[in-house]
Amino acid sequence: MKVLVLGSGGREHAISKKIAESKLVDKIFVAPGNAGTSIDFENIPISVNDFEKIGEFILNEGINLLVVGSEDPLVKGIRNFLEKDDKYKNLLIIGPDASAAQLEGSKDFAKEFMFKYNIPTAAYFKAEKSNYDDAVKFMKNLNPPYVLKANGLAAGKGVIIEPDFETACKELKEMLHGKFGNASEKVLIEEFLDGVECSVFVITDGKDFVLLPEAKDYKRIGEGNTGPNTGGMGAVSPVSFFEGDFKNKVLQKIVIPTIKGIQKEKMNYKGFIFFGLINVKGEPYVIEYNVRMGDPETEVVMPRIKSDLVEILIAAAKGNLKDTNIDIYSDICTTVILASKGYPGNYETNIEISGLENISDSIIFHAGTKLVQGRIFTSGGRVLAVSSLGKTMEEALKKSYTSAKKINFENKYYRRDIGFDL
Ligand code: AMP
Ligand code: GLY
Repeated sequence: MKVLVLGSGGREHAISKKIAESKLVDKIFVAPGNAGTSIDFENIPISVNDFEKIGEFILNEGINLLVVGSEDPLVKGIRNFLEKDDKYKNLLIIGPDASAAQLEGSKDFAKEFMFKYNIPTAAYFKAEKSNYDDAVKFMKNLNPPYVLKANGLAAGKGVIIEPDFETACKELKEMLHGKFGNASEKVLIEEFLDGVECSVFVITDGKDFVLLPEAKDYKRIGEGNTGPNTGGMGAVSPVSFFEGDFKNKVLQKIVIPTIKGIQKEKMNYKGFIFFGLINVKGEPYVIEYNVRMGDPETEVVMPRIKSDLVEILIAAAKGNLKDTNIDIYSDICTTVILASKGYPGNYETNIEISGLENISDSIIFHAGTKLVQGRIFTSGGRVLAVSSLGKTMEEALKKSYTSAKKINFENKYYRRDIGFDL
C-alpha cells in the first residue's frame, strides 16, 4: 500500500520510519517533509493545510492511508474535506474530524467534555470580556500561581503561569484584548496542579483503543526545567511512575471514560489521542488532550513499538480495533533535541549540518532541516532528535549524548540533563 504522512517534524519522520518497517507498505510520501524524510522517503511540496492539493495528490498517486501528523489540518477539517467526497471513499485516514478535534482545538470544549464524563482535571472558569469581574473573583479564591490559557490554538504559547495576582489580572485583560489574537477571546483560568507530568498515547477507532508506550517530555529550554516553554527539548520512555496503581488509575479514570465519552458523543474519531497528564501525589489529572502524537515524544515512542504499526492504523481507520494487541520492547528510549541557539526566540537558519554519517548508536529523526544539492542545512528551531535505545536509562542517554556531540552545526544548543529527574 501507499502511505502519505502530513507534517515536517521529528514526529513525522519517526512515524514514517516506523511505517516503513511494515511489510504492507510499498511507498511512503511525506508532505511537506524535511531533509530526513526526503532522504528516506519522498517529499511532496504541499502544505499540510492545502486540502485541495493534498486531495489531488491522493487520487493521482493512489494513496491508501493518510496519517495526519499535526493538529492544525485536523482542527481545520481535513477529514471532513476528504469524507464529503465519494472520490476518497477507499482512503483510510488517521486523525479525527474537525468537531472531535475540538478536544485539542478548544480548551473550553475539552473541559466541558471532561466534566461531563467525570474525568479528573483542574477546576476552571471560562473568562470573556463580558465576565471579567467574575473571572477576577474566581482567581482570588485560587492559590497562586495562576494558570491562564488561551482557549484556541496558539502554537503552544497560549499558557501563562503567573505567581503574582495583580500581574495575572493584567495578563488576563491583555489576553482577552487580543494578546493571542482570536485564540484568547476566551481564556480559561485554572487551578494550578502541582505534580509531575507524563504523556500517555492511544490509538483509537472511536470505540476501542490500543495503549502505546508512555513518555515524559522536557518542555523548558533550560536545564533543571528553567526558562521559556518550547515544543519539547527531549523525552524519555518509559516513565518510571507510570505503573501499578497509578497506571491503573489512568486507564480506569481517564482513558476508558474518554473513549466512552467519544463513543457516546458519536465523535468521528479514528486516530491518536495524546493525554497530557499530571501526577499529583499519585492521582492522575488531565492537563490537556491533543488529537495527535507529541513531538518529541513520538521520537521515543515509535522505536519502542515492536508490532506492525500499519496493521494497527488500518484496524483503527476501519473501526476494527477490538482485540488488536500491541507488543512493546522493554528497552528504554531517550531523545535529545539539537536546537538552534536562540530558540524558542529568534535564531539563525541555513547553517550546514555535518557529522551525521558518524552516527551508529542512535536514530536521527530530522525536524527543522532541509536538503540542498545533497547537503543538509538547518531550517528551524528544533533541528534534530537524537534517539537511542538502551537496557537502562543511563545506557540510552549515554548513546544520545555521545551522538549529539558528533553532530555539528554552528549555534547548536541542547539540554544536558534530559532524564535527570527519573
Ligand atoms: P497546555 O498547553 O495546556 O499543555 O499547558 C502547557 C503547560 O502548562 C503544561 O504542560 C503544564 O506544564 C502547564 N500547565 C497547564 N495547566 C496547568 C495546571 N492546571 N496546573 C499546572 N500546570 C499546568
Ligand atoms: N511535546 C508536547 C506536544 O507535542 O504537544
